[in-house]
Amino acid sequence: MTKDLKTAVTTALCLTAALPASGAVTFSLPSKVGTGGYAYAPLDPAPIGISFEFFAFPSYFINVTATQQCLANWKALTGVWPPIRIGGTTQDRAQYDAKTSAYVVYSVADAKDAPSVLTFGPKFMTLAGMYGGSVVVGLNRGKNNIDNTIAAAKVAVSEVKHLLAIELGNEPEYWVKDGQPITSGVNWTPATDAASQNNWNIRVGSAVDRTNIIQAGNWNDAPPKWGAAQLIATENATVKPHVRHYAHHNYPGGSIQSLMTHSTIAKNIHTFDADIAAARGVGKEYVFGETNSVSGGGAARVSPTFGAGLWTMDYALRATYNNMSRTYFHHGTVGNCQYCFWGRYSMGAPYYGAYAAVALMAGASHLTALDSGSTNYAAYATFDSRGLPLRVLLYNSDYFAGSGTRTAQSFTLTGLTSSMVRAKRLTAASATSRVDQASPPSFGGQQFDNGSCAISGTETFETTPASGGQATFSVKATEALLVYLQ
Ligand SMILES: *[C@@H]1O[C@H](CO)[C@@H](O)[C@H](O)[C@H]1NC(C)=O
Ligand SMILES: *[C@@H]1O[C@H](CO)[C@@H](O)[C@H](O)[C@H]1NC(C)=O
Ligand SMILES: *[C@@H]1O[C@H](CO)[C@@H](O)[C@H](O)[C@H]1NC(C)=O
Ligand SMILES: *[C@@H]1O[C@H](CO)[C@@H](O)[C@H](O)[C@H]1NC(C)=O
Repeated sequence: MTKDLKTAVTTALCLTAALPASGAVTFSLPSKVGTGGYAYAPLDPAPIGISFEFFAFPSYFINVTATQQCLANWKALTGVWPPIRIGGTTQDRAQYDAKTSAYVVYSVADAKDAPSVLTFGPKFMTLAGMYGGSVVVGLNRGKNNIDNTIAAAKVAVSEVKHLLAIELGNEPEYWVKDGQPITSGVNWTPATDAASQNNWNIRVGSAVDRTNIIQAGNWNDAPPKWGAAQLIATENATVKPHVRHYAHHNYPGGSIQSLMTHSTIAKNIHTFDADIAAARGVGKEYVFGETNSVSGGGAARVSPTFGAGLWTMDYALRATYNNMSRTYFHHGTVGNCQYCFWGRYSMGAPYYGAYAAVALMAGASHLTALDSGSTNYAAYATFDSRGLPLRVLLYNSDYFAGSGTRTAQSFTLTGLTSSMVRAKRLTAASATSRVDQASPPSFGGQQFDNGSCAISGTETFETTPASGGQATFSVKATEALLVYLQ
């Protein structure tokens, strides 16, 4: 059966039983990239990626069936495997053991714990080398054993076919508290960490004989104190060529409502403006190397919800719009991870939000935001390689928690060139909906099966007529709509 025969078409008109909240918001779609006074971000082929906690990485690929399919679902949209990063707190607890035949060796009192110490063998890197997308590998700096890290880096370089970069240390601003040996007897500050990063970047980069190989930075505390701008200012001509790009971590936290509110998201992303500008000023990328809704594996009442899923979507898009090249959403301990997109037995609602964002950007060359980021209503547009509008995503971040009347917002798009457009709706019963509580979201009428991540259901497009280049769409509170223009 062809895709078209399977596609059910309904009209937007019969789906808008909800009440209007206020007048329509109007966005004018530019006819071509670079026009209309908007800022345009050039797009990575796959701007949304996954970060796997270092010790849990083998388990995700060996023991979690959904991993391969969840990543493949995005590849089906974009044509490339999503980028991954392997790292996190346990990268600075890990030592390389050339003799072990295991991926990782550790013991924990409870399967929900992360190990306080672990070793990994060459097979760990062989497994990472089997992945079809780009890989960032995070190695240990905290233990101050550079020979061991160089040995691991050499295996990463030889085994990981699509190695994009190596990180030397995760969130070093917390190392004094963690008792990491490298801070012993040192007044550990952004300046001493920068000197340490520069020294390690040169020594590891030279040992593996690679330039453009280091993902530098990797702090979680907000810039400017710990940030790329201050690090770049300390870099000399020897270290600069070894650095491929800069990364920061971010966990905004808060309630479901504050998390998913569009203006809050836009404001949070602005924290990184100066850092992104500093990286781009030296011709380098800036990425969210590790991020998710709430730190420490997520918050049970926030992170698994559809509201957090809408945060995932809007946050990844706003970051990309602000020239963040890639955003890696963190996945921690298997079976103890509130913000995870998938697990062994259940899908997470955030996967749906990420999927919609991937669908907007798939195959596109540029992204812009049509809104200023100051209200609850967002509109993003993507453009193809010819510079022509490809898709628009509309987001109504008004909060609906399941009781009372669910309002709706009308979005009017001007500048359309066809007489009819199709759209897929990202929706769920409410912001608090969770897959594991029998309230899965849907995107274009489809869902992702628990345990396998296989897409199920009939792909459903709504159609909306346009006249005089203008069409109006109704988007309910806590809902998004992806409009296809080609
Ligand atoms: C996969 O699960 C099995 C059984 O629980 C366990 O013995 C094995 O260590 C796991 N493998 C990885 C790579 O985590
Ligand atoms: C750059 O700094 C490193 C120390 O991090 C030093 O070893 C190297 O000689 C310096 N290079 C130049 C060109 O100053
Ligand atoms: C992103 O970078 C492009 C240049 O590649 C620039 O034109 C645009 O203004 C930047 N966007 C923002 C929001 O600063
Ligand atoms: C996943 O599991 C939940 C809870 O058991 C169930 O309600 C849902 O229908 C299942 N399937 C999908 C596609 O979410």
